[in-house]
Amino acid sequence: MTMKIAFIGFGGVGQSLAKIMKERQENLNTVNGLDFSIVAVADMRLGAVYHPDGLNLDLLFEGISEHATVETYPEDHQTVKGWSSLETIRHSNADVIVEVTFTDVKTGEPAISHCRTAFAHGKSVVTTNKGPVALAYEELVQLAEDQGVFFGFEGTVMSGTPALRMPETTLAGNQITEIKGILNGTTNYMITEMEKGLSYNEALEKAQKLGYAEADPTSDVEGYDARYKVSILSSHVMRSPIPPYEVECEGISGLNLEKIKDAWKDGEKYRLIARVEKSSGSVKASVKPERIPMDDPLAGVTGATNAIVYECDLAGSIMLTGAGAGLTETGYSLLIDLIHYHKQRTPTKI
Ligand code: HSE
Repeated sequence: MTMKIAFIGFGGVGQSLAKIMKERQENLNTVNGLDFSIVAVADMRLGAVYHPDGLNLDLLFEGISEHATVETYPEDHQTVKGWSSLETIRHSNADVIVEVTFTDVKTGEPAISHCRTAFAHGKSVVTTNKGPVALAYEELVQLAEDQGVFFGFEGTVMSGTPALRMPETTLAGNQITEIKGILNGTTNYMITEMEKGLSYNEALEKAQKLGYAEADPTSDVEGYDARYKVSILSSHVMRSPIPPYEVECEGISGLNLEKIKDAWKDGEKYRLIARVEKSSGSVKASVKPERIPMDDPLAGVTGATNAIVYECDLAGSIMLTGAGAGLTETGYSLLIDLIHYHKQRTPTKI
């Protein structure tokens, strides 16, 4: 059964996924049994186009690179142009919505409304937007379950590094008592640059130049970005929802070279540690700079790389490390979800 996909939002991440899928179309079909068709794109800047039989991706990208719009796409009697995001979700024949709009993480909008509308219309959603998952986890998971549809959000924590699915699938059967990690690339890059002798401001400027930090880096340096990720881990992996604003949070803006050198004297390094702990039924979550021993595996994580450690009662301590951002990596995280959605809806052959 061909999977019909609609992109709501078609910026860097969405385009990256579409390119990966175009390049690997044959492989996805033969190796994963995934036959797909991209039927719609609706984007605030690029406009919207829908064709029930699927869009030609070469023509779609041609329109974007030559005219900065998808609405120059050639028409026939079935082509529809100019639909809003909600119209595309409601009226297209897509079975799955790739939700990658520019969303305000503080309100989760418009992504939350897109997810609600998709579920209400019996459509599945895959997204990399943290806002809807951190702020409305229980509601959205319940809605998807009630409608018997799929809700995938692997890329919300550590992009294409499978921080959410690994504990759920590969580590299944363990009780996870603690999760701790380095979940923000910007701040880890800044700390390791400061360890090389740069000042806080020099390290921040470098992180901005390299595109790790946002133009307004507050969310990174004050720990808010990591706080959303901790909230998602707590809900999804620990099954204990904690709203982001209840996560104890301190960023790295109080950190300087002197403090870093002081820690070295005691054989320790600073890292911005995101942590969720479970003990006697209650769960505590925090994001703060912590001094950890030099030989702690997290102390060896440098630059913009992310890492996460799951304390498992049977498997012991398991660490996963990799990229936490990047267009290809984040586009790929959506592909992981789409492949799992495909597996879920395809009866197993014996
Ligand atoms: N600004 C984030 C980081 C991007 O530095 O990790 C991924 O959420």
